[in-house]
Amino acid sequence: MKRYKIAWLPGDGIGVEVMEAARIVLDAAGFVADYTHGDIGWDFWCREGDALPPRTVELLRSSDAAMFGAITSKPAKAATAELAPELRDKGLSYRSPIVRMRQVFDLYVCLRPCKAYPGNELNVMEGIDLVVFRENTEDLYAGVEFSPVPAELAATLGRLTKSYAPFGGLGPDDLAISCKINTRKGSERIVRAAFDFAKQQGRKKVTVVHKANVVRATDGVFLEEARKVAAAYPEIALDEANIDAMCMWLLKNPFNYDVLVAPNLYGDIISDLCAQMVGGLGFGCSGNIGDKLAVFEPTHGSAPKHAGLYKANPIATILAAKMMLEWLGEKTMAARIEGATAAVLAEGKVKTYDMGGSAKTLDMAKAIAARI
Ligand code: IPM
Ligand code: MG
Repeated sequence: MKRYKIAWLPGDGIGVEVMEAARIVLDAAGFVADYTHGDIGWDFWCREGDALPPRTVELLRSSDAAMFGAITSKPAKAATAELAPELRDKGLSYRSPIVRMRQVFDLYVCLRPCKAYPGNELNVMEGIDLVVFRENTEDLYAGVEFSPVPAELAATLGRLTKSYAPFGGLGPDDLAISCKINTRKGSERIVRAAFDFAKQQGRKKVTVVHKANVVRATDGVFLEEARKVAAAYPEIALDEANIDAMCMWLLKNPFNYDVLVAPNLYGDIISDLCAQMVGGLGFGCSGNIGDKLAVFEPTHGSAPKHAGLYKANPIATILAAKMMLEWLGEKTMAARIEGATAAVLAEGKVKTYDMGGSAKTLDMAKAIAARI
C-alpha cells in the first residue's frame, strides 16, 4: 500500500485535541502515512509575526495532503496589540492562515457535505443529505480592503455615487471599503466542480446561490458562468436561488435541495446553516481542494474556552479525515471510517457534551476506532 506524506497542522485550542482524535481513527483504519507536524496558529503570529510561517508553506508544498485543526483569530487591531513588542511597529497585519492557505495553494473548492446520520438527536430533520460547494479563493475574501481609504479613492467614490448615495465629501477615516472580486474563471471552475460531483454521485440538482438582483456585477458573472456550465450537463437540473430566501427555504424544506454552489461568503454562511441542520459544529467537515493539494479541516474554530478540557466533539475532524482518504483515492478506508461513525451515532451510547452526553473527545474517537 502507498505510504502517504501528510502535513499535520493541529493549530490552537481544541484543534490539537480533535486532531489527536482523528489520528486514532486514521490509525485504526489502517492508513499508512508519514505525518509531519507543521507550525501554524496564534503563537506564531505573536512570536514571529506570521501565523503561517514560510516553513509550513514549504511543508505543504511537499505533502500529498494536509489535515488542519483550528486556529484562533482576532480582528486586526486586537491582533497587532498581541504581537511581540519588537514586531509591533513593522506594519504587520493579521490575516487568517486558513484563508491564506486556500489562496496560496489555489484550493478553489471548499467542499462541505452535510449529512444527517440516522439517530443523531441533534439532526434538525432525519434524511438531510446536502453538499455545499463554496468558492474558496476570491469574492469578499480577496483581501483587497481599504481602511483608512486613500483620499483619491474616497474622492472617486464620491464622484461615482453622488447622484444617490451619501458617500461624497468623506475623509479617509469616515468609511471603509472591502472589495468583492469574482472572476469568470473562478466562478466557472467551482460550478464545474459541483456539476462534476453531481454527475459522479448520481445527484439530480445543483442550486446556485447568489444575490444577482442587487449585487449585479459580481454575482451576475457568477450566475452567467453557472448557466454556461449547466448547459453541458443536461441530466442535472440547474436551480437558482437568492441567498436570503435560500436560508428560509433550506430550513423549511431541505429535501428540495441536493448540491449547492455559491460564491465564497454566501458559501461560508450557508455551510454553517447546513451544518447546524445535521448536528452543528461538531459535525461540520470540510475539504479545501485544489488541483495538486487539499487541506481537510473541521469547520469549527479553536474554542479557547474549551481548550485543554478534551470535551469537544471530534466527529467533524474524523469526517474531514474520511474526506481526505476519499480525495487520496482510499475509498474503502474512507467508507470504513464513515460506517463506523454512523454506527456509533446510531447506537447513541457514546455522546460528547454537545450531544447531551459526557463522553470526552478521545472516548468518541476510541468508540469509532473500535467499530472499525
Ligand atoms: C470557515 C471559517 C473561516 C472562513 C474563518 C475561520 C476565516 O469560518 O472555514 O468557514 O471564513 O472561511
Ligand atoms: Mg465559516
